[in-house]
Amino acid sequence: MFPKGVKRRNVILVFAIIAVYFLVNFIHQGRDVGDSKEKIILIEESIRSFTNQGRCKIPNIPYDSPDMMKFIKDEEPINCGNDEDWVHCNVSFCIIKKRIVDKKGGFISCEFQDIMRNGDNSFQYGNAVRSTNKYMLQNSDFVRIKCKAADGSKWSGTGIGIRKDVEIIKRHKVADGLMNVLIFGFDSISRNSFIRKLPKAYHYLTNELNADVLKGFNIVGDGTPQALIPLLTGYTELELPEARKRKFSSNYVDVYPFIWKKYQSAGYVTAFNEDQPKIGTFSYRLKGFNQTPTDHYQRLYYLAIESDLYKSKKYCVGSRPKHQVMFDYTYDFLQRYNNTKNPTFAFSFHAELSHDSINLVGVIDDDLTNWLKKLHSSFLLNNTLMIFMSDHGNRFMETRNTLHGKLEERLPFFSFIFPETFKSKYYAQYKIFQSNLQNLVTPFDAHETLEDFLHLQLYNRHKAQEHARALSLFKKIPKDRTCADAYIEAHWCSCLSWSSLNDTKSSEEILRATNAVLDTINKFTQDYRKICMKLTLKEVVWSAKLIPQKSLLNFKSNLDTDGFLADLTANTKVTNEMYQVKIITNPSEAIYESTVLYDFTNNVFRVKISDISRTNKYGDQARCIMDENPELRKFCYCSENY
Ligand SMILES: *[C@@H]1O[C@H](CO)[C@@H](O)[C@H](O)[C@H]1NC(C)=O
Ligand SMILES: *[C@@H]1O[C@H](CO)[C@@H](O)[C@H](O)[C@H]1NC(C)=O
Ligand SMILES: *[C@@H]1O[C@H](CO)[C@@H](O)[C@H](O)[C@H]1NC(C)=O
Ligand SMILES: *[C@@H]1O[C@H](CO)[C@@H](O)[C@H](O)[C@H]1NC(C)=O
Repeated sequence: MFPKGVKRRNVILVFAIIAVYFLVNFIHQGRDVGDSKEKIILIEESIRSFTNQGRCKIPNIPYDSPDMMKFIKDEEPINCGNDEDWVHCNVSFCIIKKRIVDKKGGFISCEFQDIMRNGDNSFQYGNAVRSTNKYMLQNSDFVRIKCKAADGSKWSGTGIGIRKDVEIIKRHKVADGLMNVLIFGFDSISRNSFIRKLPKAYHYLTNELNADVLKGFNIVGDGTPQALIPLLTGYTELELPEARKRKFSSNYVDVYPFIWKKYQSAGYVTAFNEDQPKIGTFSYRLKGFNQTPTDHYQRLYYLAIESDLYKSKKYCVGSRPKHQVMFDYTYDFLQRYNNTKNPTFAFSFHAELSHDSINLVGVIDDDLTNWLKKLHSSFLLNNTLMIFMSDHGNRFMETRNTLHGKLEERLPFFSFIFPETFKSKYYAQYKIFQSNLQNLVTPFDAHETLEDFLHLQLYNRHKAQEHARALSLFKKIPKDRTCADAYIEAHWCSCLSWSSLNDTKSSEEILRATNAVLDTINKFTQDYRKICMKLTLKEVVWSAKLIPQKSLLNFKSNLDTDGFLADLTANTKVTNEMYQVKIITNPSEAIYESTVLYDFTNNVFRVKISDISRTNKYGDQARCIMDENPELRKFCYCSENY
């Protein structure tokens, strides 16, 4: 049976090893309750179940209410120390600073090595080039710099600028006359938080740049990817091809239909910039990009500065604050292509300062305001649509456990700043946009608006609507739009009337709803039971019930519908009730807030894992699962030995 000399035992051993390898890999993927299609059906069912809610009235929450203001304080300014960087890059040139040369004995020699991308997680250095005055960026936007001065002292750092790349100019067809798009965002800033913590920037945006702030911008899911994926692609993660890292045969996110691809084919030069590479929106839970997604892509920079950070102060790289590096890189990008025929599309998103603190971002109010002033005064906004935004409000801080904090999480800052050229050329569209500022809108609509913005310019007409849920803001948004129309699940909808229940402790419904939440969590972590402990109820903090408005049952019938909403009209019979519970669990002291559907035809309480928010930090509790299955982070309490 086997060739001579090959022992049967060895062959079996080899097969066993291979089988174990595949088995381990398979288990490693984690178990999913249902596939994407089943999950989408559940979501659509749950959306349909509250279509009888009537028009959305966005709650008007004061930004300075006392229960929020008691958490607001000033933080220490960022101080990067007194050791000045020796080299400064100004757009495409990295120049050894004259002042430093004079100080260091009249002579500095530096070695420059281009930093070249090697996938999303590694890079390599190019050949070393020596210079005593400057270096031109050509192959990469980022360069490793090592310098030695006449007096024997040394300095090293990472240069960043916008390379002079003839390939980019050649590759892009001339698209003269199109307007630039610049999207700049901070993680976790609600509209109210922006007003509280960045008052000067807010004032400058709204009073000097005439920003149009969307007061009814509501999130559609939990966390950054669930905000940025709809904004950048028009879809939810579930609707797109599998791209989760831990899945066996998942795709790189290159397969996503990113909006910048459409702009790029119209001739735009593109940029995508995001700090915090370890928790990157598309590379932490998801598999990241195989090809460079955009012409300029800052991720590599943040990987490359790791070696500079240990000798830099907090929030700094060398003598520069990290947020300033992103401001400057974005500015340089606009300046670099300002007088070329190529329009630009940039998306810059900064997380470090605002993700883990509701107060820290306040220290850069002046820097942000100055950056906006500089963009304006150097005429870089003259032909640019700027979108200043955030993904959601704060999700974890103390404020999140107030009622206002809960609403603020769902209402991020989102604003459009149109250039005068747009306002005059597309006068009617601009007026309509302004009439939508109080209405309910979502990241799906923002995406549709970006598509329409391009379409209007290329073809001088509106883009045809594809999904009932996604409306261009250059068209009228119905005043009576509901969260269900906008594809916002009850859990995330900021304009539903929940009535709190007073008998939280004794009510049988609440007991069953609470058990359904715990069961859902424990099932989700079940395959990791050895390391993630089973959670039990410590306390029900609060509970509420959605009050259906029966008079509005049939009000949906005149809406323009497609696949998603087509059977809404048919399904107006009330067969569900919606509850919300807020619980604390043992042993983790985790605070969860969940929306629970009571299906009274079948007499069951149903919870989707995506309907459970954790409103305090998991921090170290989830250490054992962080890398292996980041989706379990908010639910896993690692047992002592892991
Ligand atoms: C950067 O370069 C531009 C053009 O080369 C020049 O006008 C500008 O003054 C420079 N800025 C700094 C800070 O060196
Ligand atoms: C951008 O271009 C405009 C028009 O050509 C010019 O006036 C302005 O100075 C340029 N801005 C920068 C920063 O180069
Ligand atoms: C840019 O717009 C301002 C008004 O906002 C105008 O004064 C200025 O002349 C414009 N500059 C260019 C280069 O078009
Ligand atoms: C709960 O109690 C409050 C005040 O005690 C009352 O206003 C409210 O109507 C009660 N809610 C229900 C559902 O009974």
